[in-house]
Amino acid sequence: MENAFTAVKVTDHVYWVGAVDWNIRDFHGYATDRGTTYNAYLVMADRVTLIDTVKKPFMDEMLSRIASVIEPSKIDFIVSNHSEMDHSGSLPAVIEAVRPEKVFASANGRTALEEHFHMNGSVGEIADGGEIDLGNMKITCYETRMLHWPDSMVSYLHEDRLLFSQDAFGMHLASTDLFDDAHPLRLLEEEAAKYYANILMPFSHLVLKALERIAGLGVDIDIVAPDHGPVWRKNIGWIFDAYRRWAEREPGNKAVIFHDTMWGSTDLMARAIADGLRAGGAGVKVLRLGSAHRSDIATELLDAGAIVVGSPTINNQIFPTVADALTYITGLKPKGLVGFAFGSYGWSGESVKHIEEALAGMRVELVAEGIKVRYVPTDEDLAACRARGVELAVKLREISGAG
Ligand code: FEO
Repeated sequence: MENAFTAVKVTDHVYWVGAVDWNIRDFHGYATDRGTTYNAYLVMADRVTLIDTVKKPFMDEMLSRIASVIEPSKIDFIVSNHSEMDHSGSLPAVIEAVRPEKVFASANGRTALEEHFHMNGSVGEIADGGEIDLGNMKITCYETRMLHWPDSMVSYLHEDRLLFSQDAFGMHLASTDLFDDAHPLRLLEEEAAKYYANILMPFSHLVLKALERIAGLGVDIDIVAPDHGPVWRKNIGWIFDAYRRWAEREPGNKAVIFHDTMWGSTDLMARAIADGLRAGGAGVKVLRLGSAHRSDIATELLDAGAIVVGSPTINNQIFPTVADALTYITGLKPKGLVGFAFGSYGWSGESVKHIEEALAGMRVELVAEGIKVRYVPTDEDLAACRARGVELAVKLREISGAG
């Protein structure tokens, strides 16, 4: 009988046996407009080894792909590079079905898997730099703690010069085209940047260390096989360089304005500020919540130098969508930003003060006083917003080094 799903060959020894999730649109708060994949890999060495598994509802798809290459019960080892449930959700059931000789995870990974799934000691530890002997092949595991969980590690398959990189260098992109060279680089950049901004940005200092460590391993890497999205075989240097650039996050000559509005006043203010920024020579993106998603704001901040946040006052508070985005962005710890707050109000007008407190918590340098407008902005109010945009553009040129 034909398998419902089949494996895709990556090298002579390695097959992709993951799953494509065409339908997911919300990945723990991150908008995945193009779906995603959960990548798992089968290494057909003397000791047959499965690298990571898939999200629980996709286990049958993965087992079917494995069965297109080999009877799943012939798997000897499983390596869990990352214990988040999109890669481990099916692990307990896979262990039950396959009964591998050994399951390897980092020390933190073993603890995390035990605490998630209460696995009664079925997962063993592999040390940082530890080797797994597959008979005719060899895997070395390197811990990448906090990229992006304490358990995270990557695995290098020496004979095929292949790095299984778990979430690192991945992206949420559902596709049946497995390799990077099948996709326009512009699309890969868009989705890899979004992934970096929303998952890895808080750990940028560790990304730089990990890149240094990979470079210092003294091994060639022909293929980088992440746990989401395409497998890199053509643009490996490009994605490593992009990670370095994003991790260093030099402030660009660009402002990100995000806001929401009740009756259009705060939106008018946002548009006037944007026009001032444009006139002052800065790049600008305006994202009104409701139309824009919090995860798109994070992506735009990756190369920005300024953040400008607006909200009407509602019942003495910030508008809930703006509070949501501020909480989310604060957690991602974007560094080196300048900015200010703005918003309309009816009688009490606390939103600007609340936004300024949030921006201070994000260590944004407030370079101008917040702008408050009662009810509906007059032409003079809008001219003041525009002037504040021009002022910010001057500051942006200074910090970004733009001419
Ligand atoms: Fe794809 Fe951190 O899980």
